[in-house]
Amino acid sequence: MHFTMEAQRRCRESIDPGSIAIDMTAGNGLDTLFLAQCVGMQGTVYALDLQADAIARTALRVSQAGYASVVRCIHADHADIADHVPLEHRGKISCAMFNLGYLPFSDKSVVTQAPTTLRALDTLESLLAPCGLISILSYVGHPTGLQESQAVEGWIAQRASRYRIERMVDESNGASPILWMVRGVAGSG
Ligand SMILES: C[S@@+](CC[C@H](N)C(=O)[O-])C[C@H]1O[C@@H](n2cnc3c(N)ncnc32)[C@H](O)[C@@H]1O
Repeated sequence: MHFTMEAQRRCRESIDPGSIAIDMTAGNGLDTLFLAQCVGMQGTVYALDLQADAIARTALRVSQAGYASVVRCIHADHADIADHVPLEHRGKISCAMFNLGYLPFSDKSVVTQAPTTLRALDTLESLLAPCGLISILSYVGHPTGLQESQAVEGWIAQRASRYRIERMVDESNGASPILWMVRGVAGSG
């Protein structure tokens, strides 16, 4: 399975034109551009990354594709996402994507960490639309990846009654990435 493509395929089904989405780990901007194409020119995408370089690359990518007016590129920790989403967009996020770990061919010391990932997930809950979707792609192969994946798994398990959860993994590969799709269930909040 191509996990990043699968995450995008499933998110696409949940995003209507004109809606609001968040890329919690912008990196090179591939998912950000994907989200911008889904929400279209009437929508909004928030794209966050801890690395200034990543935000610059994301801004360039979306600008070259004609989506600069749709995407708000934010150089920040995704644990602080609430500081960047204005009141009128809270509770209206239709989709948020996490592609955890580090950016390939970049500074590998900047890697997502369990405590901030969980804080970001906690905050995201209050920003998500009632049937909103969170996509989380996690990698176990780097030093803190297994711990982070287990932390995410625990966070999701505690909320099983509130969300419809799908978990995808390549069972033939012990170091397979894990993709979770976590969708709000209307009326459960
Ligand atoms: C696997 S890459 C994301 C790839 C990206 N989705 C793309 O399409 O190119 C993970 C990114 O998470 C960023 N990151 C790590 N910790 C972060 C944090 N606490 N808040 C925001 N971004 C973070 C890294 O800088 C890195 O760019």
